[in-house]
Amino acid sequence: MTTPSSTPSPKVSFWSVFGPQLRLYRWQILLAMVMVGISGTAQGLQNIYPKWLFTYVLEPKELTTEQRLINLLMLIGSFLLVTMIMRMAMWHLGYRIFTRVRERIVLHLRAQFFSKVNHLCLRFHGEHPSGELFSYLFGSPLGNMVNFVQHCSMFIPASIMTLVMTLGMFLLWDWQVALVLIVGSLACVWMMDVSRRKQHVIWKDFQQVEGNVSGHVADLLRGSKAVKLYSMERTVADEFNQQATTIGKKSYERDVKAHFEWMKQEGLGYLTFSALMAICTYSYLTGRIDLGTVTACLTSYAGLTWPLQTLFQAMTMYASAAASAERLGTVLITASTTPDPVGPELPVPAQGTLALTGVAFAYGTETILQDITVSIPYGQKVAVVGPSGGGKSTLIQLLLRLYDPATGTVTLDGTDLRHLRGAELRRRFGVVPQDPFIFRTSIRENLKVARPDADDAALRRACEQANAWEFISQMPAGLDTPVGEGGSTLSGGQRQRLAIARVLLAEPPFLIFDEATSALDTLSERLIQEAIERNLGNRTAIFIAHRLATVKNVDRILVVQQGRIIQDGSYADLAATPGLFKQLVEGQQLL
Ligand SMILES: Nc1ncnc2c1ncn2[C@@H]1O[C@H](COP(=O)(O)OP(=O)(O)O)[C@@H](O)[C@H]1O
Ligand SMILES: [Mg+2]
Repeated sequence: MTTPSSTPSPKVSFWSVFGPQLRLYRWQILLAMVMVGISGTAQGLQNIYPKWLFTYVLEPKELTTEQRLINLLMLIGSFLLVTMIMRMAMWHLGYRIFTRVRERIVLHLRAQFFSKVNHLCLRFHGEHPSGELFSYLFGSPLGNMVNFVQHCSMFIPASIMTLVMTLGMFLLWDWQVALVLIVGSLACVWMMDVSRRKQHVIWKDFQQVEGNVSGHVADLLRGSKAVKLYSMERTVADEFNQQATTIGKKSYERDVKAHFEWMKQEGLGYLTFSALMAICTYSYLTGRIDLGTVTACLTSYAGLTWPLQTLFQAMTMYASAAASAERLGTVLITASTTPDPVGPELPVPAQGTLALTGVAFAYGTETILQDITVSIPYGQKVAVVGPSGGGKSTLIQLLLRLYDPATGTVTLDGTDLRHLRGAELRRRFGVVPQDPFIFRTSIRENLKVARPDADDAALRRACEQANAWEFISQMPAGLDTPVGEGGSTLSGGQRQRLAIARVLLAEPPFLIFDEATSALDTLSERLIQEAIERNLGNRTAIFIAHRLATVKNVDRILVVQQGRIIQDGSYADLAATPGLFKQLVEGQQLL
C-alpha cells in the first residue's frame, strides 16, 4: 500500500519565504536604505579628513597663524557635521525603521508558521516532534533569516557607498594605487563567494542536528514524570549530556570552520595592505603623490576593508539564512494529507448516517485497516470491541478525518469527508479519548474549549452530568482552579471526567468515547457510564469499550480484530453466536 507522506522535498529558496514580506514593507525599507546609504557616504568622507588636514592646515607655508586656525576650525566644524549628522543621526533613523519592520516580519512569519503547523494533518505531526517545531519558531531558523535581512539592509547600502566613495577617491589620487586596491577587493569578493557555499552546507548540517536535538530534549522534559517513576534520572541525564555534547560539538565545528573562512579573508586583507604600503612608497619617491595623499591612502584603506568585511559577513549570514529558509519554507509549503476541499464548500451535515465503504488504511507501510464496510444510522449507539492494537482508535480517526483512507470512502449523510473541511467536520463530534489533553489553564477554560460562550450554569450542568462537579466544587478555587501541565495536578479519573464534561457541554450530534472510562475504578466507571447514557438523547454515540457493562446497553456491537470488522450485531445475537465476541464474554475479557 502506498502511503502519502506529509513531507515534500521541493526547493524552497530564501526569497520565496522572505520576498513577499519584503515587498510588503518596501517603502519603509527603501527609505531606511537611503538613510544608511547617506551614513555610508559620510564614512567614506570621514577618511579623507587626514588628507585635508595636511593640505589645508599643516602643509601650506604661506598661511598666517590666524588663517591656519580658521581653516582648522572650519575643517573640524564640517567633520562634526559629517560624523554627527550624516553618519550617526542617519544611521540611527535607518536603524529604527529597520528594527520596526524586522519585528513586524518576525511576528508575521511566526503567526504564519504557527497557523500552518496548527492546520497540518496528524501525519505531519507524527513526523515532526513538537520540540523541533518549537525550535523553528523561537530557535535559530527564524532568527538567522531576520538577522540576515537586517544586516543586509543596514550595512550593505552603507558599505557600497563607502566602497564607491573610497575607490573613487583613490582613482582621483593615483590610478596605480587604485589598481592594487581593486585587484585586492575583487580577490576578496571571489573568496567570499567560495566561503559562502561552504558555510551554507555547514549551516544546513547544523540546523538538522539542532532540530533533532530540540525534539529529543523536549521529549525528555515532557516525560519528567515517567523519568521519576522509573528512576531514570541517571540515564536521562546521560542521554541529555549526549545530546548537549552533540550540539556542542556541532556548534564548535561550525564556528571553527566559519572562523577559518574569516581568517582567509583577513589574511588577504593584510596582503593587500602590504602591497598598498609598497605602491605608496614607490609613488611618493617618484613624486607622483605627496605625503598627505600617502596618509589618506593608508587611513582610507579602512574605508575599503570595512565594507568588504561587511559583505563577507552578509555572505556568511546568507548561508545560515538560506539553510533556515529551506527548513521553515518546507513546512510552510507542506501540503496536508487531509486537505481542505477546493471550490465551493459543502456544508457539514448536522446529522446523518456515518458510513465507511471498502476502506483500507496504513500509517506507514503496514496495513492497519482493510475491507471496512459499515454504516451507522443516525442515533444508533454502537460499541466497538476487540483486542488492543486491532485498529479501533484508527477507525475513529478516519471518521474524524484526522486521516483520509488509502482506498474506499468515509461518508457523513452521503457526503465524502474529503469534500468537507476537517475542522468544520470535527465540530460536529465530541470525542473523549483515552488520554484526554488538559491544557495548562483553569478548569473553566479547559471546559470552555468546546464551547467558548458557555455560562456557569451550563458548565455546572455538564460537570454534574459527567460526575465531575463534586471534585471541582471541592477544589480551592472551584472552576477557576488552575491545573498543571497536561492536567498533572488531577487524577486520571478526574481528567477523564473533565474531558467528558467538556464534550457534553458542546452538545454535539456525534459522540465518541475511546476507552474514555477505562482509567476509572469499576464503581466510578459505572456511575459515569450511566450518566453518559442518560445524556445521550437521540445522538449517535460510539463507545470503544472493554467492559461488559458498557456493551450490554448499546444497539449494536462491532468486533474489530487485526484491522477488520469480524462481527457485527446486537449483544444478544453475538453472545449466542460462536466467535470472538462469545469468547471474550465467556473468558471474562469483557468484564
Ligand atoms: N500514529 C500512528 N503511527 C503509526 N502507527 C500507529 C499509529 N497509531 C496507531 N498505530 C498502530 O496501528 C495499530 C492499531 O492501533 P489502534 O487503532 O490504536 O488500535 P486499538 O485502538 O484497537 O488498540 C497498532 O498496531 C498501532 O501500533
Ligand atoms: Mg485505542
